[in-house]
Amino acid sequence: MVEKELRVGVVGAGVMGSGHVEYLSQDIPGVTVVGLAEPNEDLRNALLQRWNLSCPGFDSLEEMLDTVSLDGVVIASPDRFHAESIKLCLSRKIPALCEKPLAQSLDDGEELSQLAQKSLTEMGKPLIHLGFMRRFDPPLVEVKNIIGSGELGQVLYVNASTRNVSSPGIKSEELLTNIAIHEVDTMRWLLSDEWSDLTVLKGRPTSVAPDGLQDPIVLTGGTVNGVVIVADIFANNSYGYDVRCELTFERGVVRVGIWGDVTVVRDHQHPAHPPFALGENWMARFRQAYVNELVEWTETLRGKPSSDLATVEDGLRALQVLDWVSSES
Ligand SMILES: NC(=O)c1ccc[n+]([C@@H]2O[C@H](COP(=O)([O-])OP(=O)(O)OC[C@H]3O[C@@H](n4cnc5c(N)ncnc54)[C@H](O)[C@@H]3O)[C@@H](O)[C@H]2O)c1
Repeated sequence: MVEKELRVGVVGAGVMGSGHVEYLSQDIPGVTVVGLAEPNEDLRNALLQRWNLSCPGFDSLEEMLDTVSLDGVVIASPDRFHAESIKLCLSRKIPALCEKPLAQSLDDGEELSQLAQKSLTEMGKPLIHLGFMRRFDPPLVEVKNIIGSGELGQVLYVNASTRNVSSPGIKSEELLTNIAIHEVDTMRWLLSDEWSDLTVLKGRPTSVAPDGLQDPIVLTGGTVNGVVIVADIFANNSYGYDVRCELTFERGVVRVGIWGDVTVVRDHQHPAHPPFALGENWMARFRQAYVNELVEWTETLRGKPSSDLATVEDGLRALQVLDWVSSES
């Protein structure tokens, strides 16, 4: 049976919106980008031109929803617009994949959760998913499978880093809601566990960051099942995009390196990896995760439920965990 061509709109033509337009139009069969909402007309036109797309551009999501019929929307506008865009999609009953975070405040997150719950009851399926795409990253999926196999015993301790090269305009609290939120969700999903506590350590800020920005920060916490987690979050590392994690098990160690290289250290063996160059941002490292996430999301538009895509409840849970420390930052 030939599947229906899906009509998808994208919001935002910045770094992430450009990626989503590329993946939806070039990598995923059966999907047509039929609208791009972006207030910056030059950016919007350049992106449409780049992929030879003849669809209309709009200044806002609302204008796009008023004008074109859509099977779904991918939202990649700045964090502060997510809550209102999600509300709009819920009110129009349009499925959306929204970039993280769900919202910038716990109050907004709770309101969205209630609205999403009401819509779930009415529609019988979730309308909103969140772009916690590390859940679709092949190296992290491999690690989750190693955990599930039990071959190295239980996970005891996790050490992780998320370090961006530069984050212009970021505020201290956004190191939590914009960057650390990835670690909060990834650990819940990877370990099939819930956070039980979280603390933030603040040392000397880098002189590269603007005055007053607390950068980097170190999160220390744990899970209900007793896994200790230490994660550093760096918004302006100046040397190259650097995301890593290391899980210490009872009988070995698994590392996911900067390029997603998975190293399993066990039985007194440590495999070697060749050197590689670091990227400027997350796009190359997580390309396959973004594509896999979009494939899974477009399948939901065809009626196939997903147990891996993050939901509004996952977004809310991440905000709740971060709220334990946000007043300290
Ligand atoms: N999942 C990930 O790995 C990942 C990585 C980076 C960023 N993000 C998230 O993606 C989102 C976008 O990040 P980015 O790096 O692309 O930012 P960006 O600043 O590069 O792009 C945002 C774009 O949205 C446009 N915009 C502003 N207001 C808008 C509105 N009301 N409606 C539509 N467009 C609007 C801006 O003009 C800009 O072009 C953020 O929420 C960010 O947290 C996710």
